[in-house]
Amino acid sequence: MIKQSRSAAQSRFPDRGAALERYRMRAEGYDGELALFEPLRQEAISRLKLRDGESVLDVGCGTGLSFAPLKALVGEQGTIVGIEQCPQMLNKARERVQAHGWHGVRLLSEAADEASLRGQADAAIFHFTHDILRQPEAIAHVMQHLKPGARVVATGLQWAAPWVWPVNLFVWSAAMYSVTTMDGLDKPWSILATFLRDMDVSTTWMGSIFIATGTWSGREHEV
Ligand SMILES: C[S@@+](CC[C@H](N)C(=O)[O-])C[C@H]1O[C@@H](n2cnc3c(N)ncnc32)[C@H](O)[C@@H]1O
Repeated sequence: MIKQSRSAAQSRFPDRGAALERYRMRAEGYDGELALFEPLRQEAISRLKLRDGESVLDVGCGTGLSFAPLKALVGEQGTIVGIEQCPQMLNKARERVQAHGWHGVRLLSEAADEASLRGQADAAIFHFTHDILRQPEAIAHVMQHLKPGARVVATGLQWAAPWVWPVNLFVWSAAMYSVTTMDGLDKPWSILATFLRDMDVSTTWMGSIFIATGTWSGREHEV
């Protein structure tokens, strides 16, 4: 049994135990909760500019909601590697893969900073993975398994401008429910930005959701 820290969401650092417990409880109803955000997933995936036969890392893949649109782009010969630390979320992803009979989908039941990745992929997506984006070790580990020039897309919640406080109320309540650190919510992509070149960040949902796009610079990086 994992003990959940009451103050986990206020901590400066992601809390793995709290995240595991949170997503253990959310796994069953997760897909329904995300329905409203699906157009954003399509937009994020289109920015990966995936081609037939390519490989993509889905970091913090959850229940595998991105797999169908990713598979549609990389095709039969393409590869998806889903990295997910919560076993209950990953079980849902596994059921999805089996139900569709997809080949070329590898699922890693591990934390992003220590996932047993092999080789170098063409692209990576971090879709609503704030906790992972606040861990430089996790980003560095993922980058080591990307080809230089690989396309990277990240999305998630961020604080909107202070005067749109009702929007920030939404950000606060959604973050309290989904992440274990509020650290960096003003620029959730800031650590990722140090690894990428040609970074472009746009926002939607009245500034409460960002989409960051860039390419892995391929250079040595100290964390
Ligand atoms: C909000 S969900 C997003 C899931 C999926 N990317 C999607 O778009 O639906 C965040 C996911 O990240 C996973 N996660 C959080 N920290 C992680 C870590 N350090 N390593 C791997 N997965 C992690 C959680 O278990 C959860 O499934």
